[in-house]
Amino acid sequence: MAEDITSTLKEERRFPPPAEFSGRARVRSMEEYEALYRRAEEDPEGFWAERAQELLTWDQPWEQVLDWQPPRARWFVGGRLNASVNCLDRHVATWRRNKAAIIWEGEPGEVRTLTYLQLWREVCRFANVLRKAGCEAGDRVVLYMPMVPELAVAMLACARLGVTHSIVFGGFSASAIRDRVNDAGAKVVVTADGGWRRGGIVPLKDSVDAALEGDACPSVEGVIVLRRTGQKVAMEPGRDIWWHELMETVDATCPPVSVDSEHPLFILYTSGTTGKPKGVVHSTGGYLLGTAWTSRMVFDLREEDTYWCTADIGWITGHSYIVYGPLANGATTVMYEGAPNWPEPDRFWDIIERHRVNIFYTAPTAIRAFIRWGDRWPLKHDLSSLRLLGTVGEPINPEAWIWYHRVIGKARCPIVDTWWQTETGAIMISPLPGATPLVPGSATRPLPGVIADVVDGDGQPVDGDQGGYLVIRKPWPSMIRGVWGDPERFEKTYFSQVPGTYFAGDGVRQDAEGNFWIMGRIDDVINVSGHRLGTMEIESALVSHPAVAEAAVVGRPDDLKGQAIVAFVSLTGDSDPSPALGETLRAHVAAEIGALARPEEVRFTDALPKTRSGKIMRRLLQDIAANRDTRGDTTTLEDATVLDRLRKKWDER
Ligand code: PRX
Repeated sequence: MAEDITSTLKEERRFPPPAEFSGRARVRSMEEYEALYRRAEEDPEGFWAERAQELLTWDQPWEQVLDWQPPRARWFVGGRLNASVNCLDRHVATWRRNKAAIIWEGEPGEVRTLTYLQLWREVCRFANVLRKAGCEAGDRVVLYMPMVPELAVAMLACARLGVTHSIVFGGFSASAIRDRVNDAGAKVVVTADGGWRRGGIVPLKDSVDAALEGDACPSVEGVIVLRRTGQKVAMEPGRDIWWHELMETVDATCPPVSVDSEHPLFILYTSGTTGKPKGVVHSTGGYLLGTAWTSRMVFDLREEDTYWCTADIGWITGHSYIVYGPLANGATTVMYEGAPNWPEPDRFWDIIERHRVNIFYTAPTAIRAFIRWGDRWPLKHDLSSLRLLGTVGEPINPEAWIWYHRVIGKARCPIVDTWWQTETGAIMISPLPGATPLVPGSATRPLPGVIADVVDGDGQPVDGDQGGYLVIRKPWPSMIRGVWGDPERFEKTYFSQVPGTYFAGDGVRQDAEGNFWIMGRIDDVINVSGHRLGTMEIESALVSHPAVAEAAVVGRPDDLKGQAIVAFVSLTGDSDPSPALGETLRAHVAAEIGALARPEEVRFTDALPKTRSGKIMRRLLQDIAANRDTRGDTTTLEDATVLDRLRKKWDER
């Protein structure tokens, strides 16, 4: 199983932190990092208790720092707090009330700045709206919205009431919304009449209508609709109400509901090995601490910084590093609605120049697109405000790293390559920008408090520079608390390979200097443009089409997207392969899951390579999709001629 994950990549270049940066950083040297790491390793509870004391405001102190009964962790047991108070009220109580909390730019070009006081008022009002709609602590609300400030308002309003939010990324289809709404048992859905994307309108409300059609989502009592584009939408009487109408009827103050530290702040669905996406549950106290602390340490976040993370809030990166982490720190966070190449490929650089962004956090897939679009776009802009760059979501190839460093960072800005996951809640492995010598392509070292290790297929520690599986040995505050409604799946997915130890699902290698090299997923998860998708989900979507008998989906290396989706499909008796049917199936997947899951390529085949016990050998399909020689053992194949036929088909094309 581990054959794919031992990289032969050797990267000799090292980029020590610039003296100017280190001089005023929070952690200024590797000695300081090592000392902090040791301290956290020797006394994790003392270490995290200090951080929780220093960074968060509690309504009631905890009685016990950690209760660890693998796989269940409870952090800050007995402590009570409110996430919206931590992100807003405590800043409003200081001079920060008139500091920009969110600087937002819409794709058509409008700019809105919300100070902490203004954001607080909007959040209080919307919390009152939700309360009027019958929402109370423990209820779930689904948010399916564009990247507008009201999305952050809705999140924090939920948090104010102890309502658990579940955001569904705006690129998901009606049936994906329906599954998530039903799994979460959401009482209310908040959406918009649309959002702007590459000059067009994403019809969010139409998708919600399709998702809720008939009695498809019985838990939903109401739909709140934000007017964003002015696009005409159907409003169902008795169910749908306009955001602005509701906001006129409520007060601008709303007392926060103090919740237990372990209270579920949100559920976020993510793809895994088996069928349907799982609802990753995050706590209030531990999650907020993890995001607040890592924002401060990894981004060296300072009071005067303008910080921009380009992720969509529909993914964990946006939750942790656009909303909760930065706002808990009282920082100024930039939010942009649209595409990086609209109206021109320099939109991001233009935003950085106009808002004087100091810290910029994006994905390798975006960097590879920028490289392709050409240096002239960033070179047109004054990027001198930047002082720190970051990446997340997938391994960054050293050449893209070097380009980012040279063309965007002018060889002056450290780059933090941050490894983490929806499940980890916060950054786990990353350089500390004032301390760590940077190594292009490596996320370098675990943060203090993170006990990362490499194990083999039997869960035994791997020696030296060999590949293996990434595990985290000790609990950490922002860790996943469960899979919504499925405790068995939680334990099986994350804590069964090495009992009691968190199994990340990534292949990794640790070099002699202690740097971690993440090699990508070892399970049936593919990473397309930094978006995480399960091959099984796409296969289920394909076989739900009447023409499809069987389907197997694999990822193929792709220069731009990281991985591209290739679907191998065998048809039912009365269907014939044709380019038109291929198109139909691609569109079918987009309709079932969302455009992000649309296969790049559909290959028809009369049979799939299977073991004698009937298991599809995806490894072989990966080789065929990548057009490379078959690696490893094929003796377990039930019918060895299938491979030749599959390859031949390809050659004939
Ligand atoms: O394979 C790893 C990859 O993204 C996966 C997690 O995806 P998701 O839960 O969607 O969260 C993405 C944003 C935190 C991981 O299992 N990944 C994430 N960051 C990196 C990475 N791979 C390599 N280097 C990274 N910096």
